[in-house]
Amino acid sequence: MKQILSAEEIHSGITRLAAQIREEFAGRSITVIGVLTGSIVFLADLIRQLDLPMRVGVVQARSYRGEQTRPGELTIHAEFLPPVTGEHVLLVDDIFDTGRTLEHLMARFREMRPESLSAAVLLRKAGRAETKFVPQFIGFEIPDDFVVGYGLDFNDRYRNLPYIAVLEGRELHGGSRT
Ligand code: IMP
Ligand code: MG
Repeated sequence: MKQILSAEEIHSGITRLAAQIREEFAGRSITVIGVLTGSIVFLADLIRQLDLPMRVGVVQARSYRGEQTRPGELTIHAEFLPPVTGEHVLLVDDIFDTGRTLEHLMARFREMRPESLSAAVLLRKAGRAETKFVPQFIGFEIPDDFVVGYGLDFNDRYRNLPYIAVLEGRELHGGSRT
């Protein structure tokens, strides 16, 4: 496993993002929706750096099944959402890879008629996008490698790492599973 972003670098990236978001929504109240499960750590750190009045909720979108590292079919579970109609909604996700997850979610949320709809991601993978949509707020651009840590998982493991690391061949093929 090779670390590519330290806890300190992530923290300053989020400070930068929070300043952009605060500026965009100054004087308004927002509804922040974390995309489960990968966004939980980022969501917790981001909202604590955002001094805006807000509601916080979650939605689950799963595109990865088990040990696959390429996207599968997307399922969305939206039953735990706060009200979003007429609200300024900010979707928060861990990583923008092909973009399909956020594109689907944006379409689903648009149907709920928010006042505005935007997205913040901690990471964006270079050269992978398959959508026209680009998130308004992006923490870091990273190369096209499979990363874990700070909420991101491989088969639901490694989410607790305080940094972001690239999984290397042997680990991706089960070598590190215990
Ligand atoms: P997209 O729909 O292809 O943009 O994929 C987005 C989702 O796939 C993210 O929310 C992650 O859960 C997952 N994902 C994409 N790339 C990685 C990665 O490198 N590590 C862990 N999860 C990833
Ligand atoms: Mg995810």
